[in-house]
Amino acid sequence: MSKRRATITAVGHYVPERVLTNADLEKMVDTSDEWIVTRTGIRERRILQQGASSDLAAGAIENLLVRRKMEATEIEMIIVATVTPDMLFPPTACVVQDKIGASNAWGFDISAACSGFLYALAAGAQFVESGAASKVVVVGADKMSSITDYSDRNLCILFGDAGAAVLLEPSDDPQYGLLDYRMYCDGSGGAFLYMKGGGSLNPATHETVDRRMHYIYQDGKAVFKVAVKGMADVSAEIMQRNNLTGDDVAWLVPHQANLRIIDATAERMGLDRSKVMINIDKYGNTTAATIPLCLSEWWETGKLKRGQNIVLASFGAGYTWGAVLMKWSLENPAK
Ligand code: COA
Repeated sequence: MSKRRATITAVGHYVPERVLTNADLEKMVDTSDEWIVTRTGIRERRILQQGASSDLAAGAIENLLVRRKMEATEIEMIIVATVTPDMLFPPTACVVQDKIGASNAWGFDISAACSGFLYALAAGAQFVESGAASKVVVVGADKMSSITDYSDRNLCILFGDAGAAVLLEPSDDPQYGLLDYRMYCDGSGGAFLYMKGGGSLNPATHETVDRRMHYIYQDGKAVFKVAVKGMADVSAEIMQRNNLTGDDVAWLVPHQANLRIIDATAERMGLDRSKVMINIDKYGNTTAATIPLCLSEWWETGKLKRGQNIVLASFGAGYTWGAVLMKWSLENPAK
């Protein structure tokens, strides 16, 4: 009997209207458009002025439901990948479930930073493959502006807010869908990228706030080195495991943290830039949302086609990293 395989049958995204450009940041910290573009590839990012990550997630899922012509009540599970939950509890998945009226769904949050979406995708696929569920929404949503220190030029240039979602269903053809994945974590990297305050280790006090412990800390140089190697290695590994060369892969869908990390990964895979989804210039690093945001935008413009092999790859805090290989099954919207 052939395997029941999970595949993406709908995509959706939500980005807030407010745009924060490099020119805006030049007025806030000692930086320049030239520095930001050459070091990161980012030109602007979106900022959610009112609301929380659940609003980004709900907006993305509502977009997906309209495109799929489906009711929220048909959703069986909602998995939210985020490092900026509305609150430590209740789970953001529950807040989202209520906001969109998915009254028949259960769900939970996954915290794996920039790899959150891939971890959640792999988890969601298990429910579909086992037969436990047939309509699983996986959404990456992060209001990074809520944990970004806008007086720190090392960090405030990097991040933005967005939500993006996919629907996983059983594939009508077992050759299509999520074919393979490799996930890793290495907790010894925890010291290089974290938010120290507000959890059980350092509950919020006046002191933790005075010490700005409720903002992201990153040793950018240290993370950069391991991110380049981690994302390139795991992307090459998933190709080797499946006997694929650069010619066999239609798209690399990389986490959007830094254009230089993306370029190094593509080079290692033997892929031309034209086969790499890049929108970091418009949105910066939206953490768990970057990969599904690419999928949703590329599908919308008809560039993702049924039958294409695509590799999704990420690296993030933890450290966490991974890659997913899929054969795209969703027809483009022109059909
Ligand atoms: N504008 C101008 N100068 C800046 C600046 C800014 N916004 N931010 C930092 N600088 C300065 C630094 O202070 C430093 O000056 P110094 O040499 O006088 O100390 C200089 O630019 C170089 O800084 P450095 O940190 O070495 O830059 P970089 O080339 O490593 O780029 C990052 C910094 C953050 C863009 C890069 O390290 C990076 O992308 N890291 C990984 C991010 C990532 O993948 N995270 C994981 C997933 S979330």
